[in-house]
Order: sequence, then C-alpha cells, then structure tokens
Amino acid sequence: MMGTRVLLVDARDPDQAVLHEAGRIIRTGGLVAFPTETVYGLGANALDADAVARIFAAKGRPPDNPLIVHIAATEDIERVARPDEETRRRVTALAQRHWPGPLTVIVPKREEVPEGVTAGLDTVAVRMPDHPVALGLIRAAGVPVAAPSANRSGRPSPTEAAHVLDDLAGRIDMVLDGGVTSIGLESTVLDLSVDPPFVHRPGAVTADQLKETLQIDVHMGKDSAPADGPAPSPGVKYEHYAPRTPCVLYEGAPHAVEIRLKGALARERRAGRRAALLATDEGAARFGHHAAVVCQVGSRGDVHIVAHNIYRCLRQLDQEDVDIIYIEGIAPVGLGEAVMNRLRRASGYRIVHVV
Ligand code: TXA
Ligand code: MG
Repeated sequence: MMGTRVLLVDARDPDQAVLHEAGRIIRTGGLVAFPTETVYGLGANALDADAVARIFAAKGRPPDNPLIVHIAATEDIERVARPDEETRRRVTALAQRHWPGPLTVIVPKREEVPEGVTAGLDTVAVRMPDHPVALGLIRAAGVPVAAPSANRSGRPSPTEAAHVLDDLAGRIDMVLDGGVTSIGLESTVLDLSVDPPFVHRPGAVTADQLKETLQIDVHMGKDSAPADGPAPSPGVKYEHYAPRTPCVLYEGAPHAVEIRLKGALARERRAGRRAALLATDEGAARFGHHAAVVCQVGSRGDVHIVAHNIYRCLRQLDQEDVDIIYIEGIAPVGLGEAVMNRLRRASGYRIVHVV
C-alpha cells in the first residue's frame, strides 16, 4: 500500500506547478491518474517497462491486453510508431480532423516501445486526448504516456476522481481531480494496420465520420459475445465494464421494450426480489415505480447526456443491495452505438431482444 495523493486541478486552466509535479512522478516511473475528455486514465511513462508493469499490477489487468499511448502533438506519434507512407497519410488526415479528440489509432510500433505496452503485438495504439489537464501532464512529463482507463480491471471506467479512488486508492501515486469527464465513454479504437481499417471499439468518433475523413471503407467489429479463440483486439475478449450485480439489457423499439421491462420488474417485485433499473428519463417515468432503485441516464433524445451518465449509473446501482439490474437500451445509432456496445458488455451479453 502507498499513500495516493489527490490534487484538485482546474479542468480548463490547470495549475502549472501541479502538472509539473505530476509530470515528474511519471518521468520517474510512478503512476498518475488524470482526466481526459472520455474517461480518467492511469498514466505511466510508455518507454519505461517497469512503470508500465506497475499499471498492470495496480489494475489487476491481464498481461495480454495492450495499452493506449497518449501524446500531446501529432508528430510525437513517431516516438512510438513506424507507419508506412500510406498509413502516415491516413493518420495525418484523421489527426487533422479528430485530434485532439476521442480517437485512438493502431499503427506499426517502434522497437523502443516496451513489450508490456503492446502485449507483445507488433502494433501500438496512440491517441491525443482533448483535455487541458491530460495535454499539460503529457507535456510536463516529456514522455509519451501509456494510460488505460483508471479502473480495477473488469470494473466500469471512471468518469470522476471518486471512481478512481474507489478502485485504486493506495495502489497509485497520485490522482489529478479535474471533475467529471465530458464524453463519459472511452475513445473509438481504429486499426490502421489492416486494410480496410477496422473499428475494434466504437466511440464518440463514429464509423461514418471515419469513412468521410478517409474517403475509404471502414469495417466495424461485430458486437456479440466473444467466442473462444484469439480475439483481433485483445481487450475485446474480456467481459469489460461489468458490475458485480447481474445485469439484463433490453433492446428494441422503445414502446415494446417498455411493456416487457414493466412486466419483468412487476414479476420481480411479486417474487420478493429487489430489482434495480437503469433507464432513460422517459422509461423511468413510465415503469420506474416497479423497481426498488432507479438511476436515470437522461432523455432518449440526447444521446450525449446518456453516454455521459452511463458509467456513473452502473457504479451507483452496483453499490445497491439488489438482486439484479435491468437496463433499458437506446437506439444503436451514432454515439448510441458506443453506448450499446458498453451496455452489452456490462450485461455479459444477457440481452433480451424485443421485437
Ligand atoms: O478513451 C480512452 O481510450 C481511455 C482514455 C484514458 O484515453 N483509455 C482506454 O484505455 O480506454 P483501455 O486500456 O481501457 O482500452 C484500450 C483498448 C483495449 O480494448 C485494448 O485491447 C485496445 O485498446 N488496444 C490497445 N492496443 C492495441 C493494439 N495494438 N491492437 C489492438 N487493440 C489494442
Ligand atoms: Mg478500460
């Protein structure tokens, strides 16, 4: 156990002395959790194999799940990657439109990148986060910063400093508390080492936006329970974002989902079981009274608010003394695709398709 220092920072205009101190910890092999526009990351010097090993130990992360390297300037991708000409053109086009921002690209790695970062793969994941604290920290550290989401492995990603402390207090050196993250879901992960490029994980940058920027076809990973055997992106095979309490996700047309969920909740109540409900504002208004506890993620009409609240609600309901969590799905379009991807995983693919 170590003492974890928590330093408050202004998300828009962070104190340079605080960034300097946090940067020094990273440069000297320590671990600092910091806010990005997506979720909180757990940062270490990406070029220091021992520091990277500490990330895996603190999180309890399986060693075959590689990390994302965070940079503060597009050209710094060259410090960890060795893209060919065509890949470099693609990175440049994507960076111009989406960096800094919630897009991670997978490209051929440089030899200097420790094996731990890439889990032995010959590719490396890189992104430039759109957050003054994250960018300031990377600059202050003076090195590329490897950072997975700052949760214990298998827990929902943290969208505020309190979530990081719930999972990692005493296991990391410092948390920079810059308040609640804006997007609330992890970045889009786009593999540029294959042709056509392949989306391993949907996020706030959508497949349509990627196609438009690249002017080529982009393939989407299939969102279904992982079969046994090697996964194309190692992270895909783990049951991520999973609350401790079993979850069931309802997908389909909103009105049909309402009827089925209402029936399921009423049955649980009659059976003397305590059920929690994660629902939209509209769903909560219609059938929330049948659940023992409700967490509202926002209106169906505003998928950005829903994305912003989803992990907080999963964590919150998981603290409750309930037997099961029922989840009302939303339309899987645009950012809703990323929301549903995370909810399917959270439910361990226990999904009721309502038609
Ligand atoms: O928004 C985000 O991406 C956040 C913030 C902190 O930047 N980070 C994040 O990291 O979500 P993490 O470690 O929780 O997720 C990284 C994902 C994993 O699914 C991992 O398997 C995949 O990226 N990944 C990393 N390197 C890869 C590679 N070389 N090939 C394929 N997948 C890779
Ligand atoms: Mg993660």
